[in-house]
Amino acid sequence: MANSPRPLVAGNWKMNGLKAALTELTAMAKAYDPGLQGKADLLICPPSLWIPAAVSQLQGSGIAIGAQDCHPQPHGAHTGDISAPMIKDAGASHVIVGHSERRSDHGETSEMVKAKAEAAMAAGLVAIVCVGETQDERQSGRAKDVVGEQLRHSWPMGAKASTLVIAYEPVWAIGTGLTPTSADVADMHGFIRQECERLAPGQGNNMAILYGGSVKPQNAAELMNVPNVNGALVGGASLKASDFMAIVEVYR
Ligand code: PGA
Repeated sequence: MANSPRPLVAGNWKMNGLKAALTELTAMAKAYDPGLQGKADLLICPPSLWIPAAVSQLQGSGIAIGAQDCHPQPHGAHTGDISAPMIKDAGASHVIVGHSERRSDHGETSEMVKAKAEAAMAAGLVAIVCVGETQDERQSGRAKDVVGEQLRHSWPMGAKASTLVIAYEPVWAIGTGLTPTSADVADMHGFIRQECERLAPGQGNNMAILYGGSVKPQNAAELMNVPNVNGALVGGASLKASDFMAIVEVYR
């Protein structure tokens, strides 16, 4: 399995988990032994309410904490939103921006995603920018056009391999149990790699490109072995430590 760029396995809890769910983090920290720590980075993005508790619970474990979204402005009159500097201040290191559920539930455009990613980077966070086509777009042969356009328009200025991660998440694979074939993942990740290097010369080749969409312990080894797949963005299977850590185990 390719170890460069360094793999990142990220869990996105979405709007799931009451305070009691934080006990899963303790089990994850226990399973993330030095053998695994040498192979892959781990990140959990819980609901933002739980970020401070999760950060203190994971202190010293090597597992990072991230947020699922941020506002493009650092502060101001934006009821209900949280800003990138607040996320940083709470002890998190990453933020997911442009997840397809944000794009569809909240009408987020790629231009808004770009502004959010730039705000994240300005605050010292790593931005995880999500892209991915719908089923219609894939069936009509437009998957790469759509993903290429999302990448170009969501691309934050000044992105470096250390400040930007791309997550390819086909919308039709999220939460459905469906996954693209390894050949389709290889084709798309190869295309994204090319685009990353074109958009950030000298950086794109070292950027982590995650695959997301129905990653489970059963399919993780196959998906993580695809060229240019540098880890996973995991939704449902990140809620339970046993499932999540079984996915991470493929890097041992
Ligand atoms: P899933 O979600 O693993 O539950 O399909 C992935 C995601 O939306 O990040």
